[in-house]
Amino acid sequence: MLNKAEKFKKVILVGDGAVGSSYAFSMLQNNGADEMVIVDLKEDHVRGDVLDLEDVLPMTSPMKLRYGSYQDAADADLVVITAGVPRKPGETRLDLVAKNARILESIVKPIVKSGFHGVFLVSSNPVDILTTITQEISGFPRERVIGTGTSLDTSRLQVALAHKFDVSTQNIDAMILGEHGDSSFAAYDEATVEGRPLRMVAMEKNISDDDLAQIEVDVRRKGGQIIGLKGATFYGVAISLMRLSKAILYNQNVVMPVSAPLTGQYGLKDIYIGNPAVINASGIAKVIEEPLSDNEIDKMKKSAKQMAEIVMAAK
Ligand code: 2OP
Repeated sequence: MLNKAEKFKKVILVGDGAVGSSYAFSMLQNNGADEMVIVDLKEDHVRGDVLDLEDVLPMTSPMKLRYGSYQDAADADLVVITAGVPRKPGETRLDLVAKNARILESIVKPIVKSGFHGVFLVSSNPVDILTTITQEISGFPRERVIGTGTSLDTSRLQVALAHKFDVSTQNIDAMILGEHGDSSFAAYDEATVEGRPLRMVAMEKNISDDDLAQIEVDVRRKGGQIIGLKGATFYGVAISLMRLSKAILYNQNVVMPVSAPLTGQYGLKDIYIGNPAVINASGIAKVIEEPLSDNEIDKMKKSAKQMAEIVMAAK
């Protein structure tokens, strides 16, 4: 008999596009779960992907992999939703709400009906809004619905700062907070480089406030830039999904910026927004209230207001 910590870990992946299959590939390479069932309207594509992906098994981890349906969620620990229409060049994430909210409804309702009682993890865009909508449609407790939020933006910021400061990405502690999209912001006032305040190190290295502001803008535009060049972005978010999945399935208490449900932090509530949280088997174990500067709290509020208006308009 397996004890609770060793329980068989089952994931349902809904959406086998570029993000979904990159996530599956990453889970296989990182001992992510014991079983993954892939659900997508394009059955032949999934069956082909399963055959292609299973060829990595002898050199990776012994994961069971198959095509399935929403009913398979009944005894799953985690449902990962990557399905949705991707953002087109020039389109903002917010433009996508109406289209993807309808798709989400057709996914979440049958999954809940199956008896699923695990955690929902969403990466479809606009992710914060779709995470809020997933929680509402599912009726699940807030902590059992999570979105990838600004985890990808945070990776992008760390990459950009590591270049600029000429240090390893591992030595940058800096986050992007707010909506994963146009109103996100870099929380520079709390950031550190090699353990020292980022603004102090910036001064020593002749990196100006304008340089930092430009990095923030470039990071915000990076998704659009990649889409313009190759049509889609997928590796970064796939790795965020893998990391979050492992934190949930293996009860790891990992702190990451995600689409987190605010319940009074910064004076905000009833909205999911990019903010750090402790992630474990219960989903979001704790939403962390960062010691943000007044200026950053204003940015968080502005971002939340912009999203709340869209959520209301989408209803
Ligand atoms: C990204 O930022 C499109 O949300 C996706 O890469």
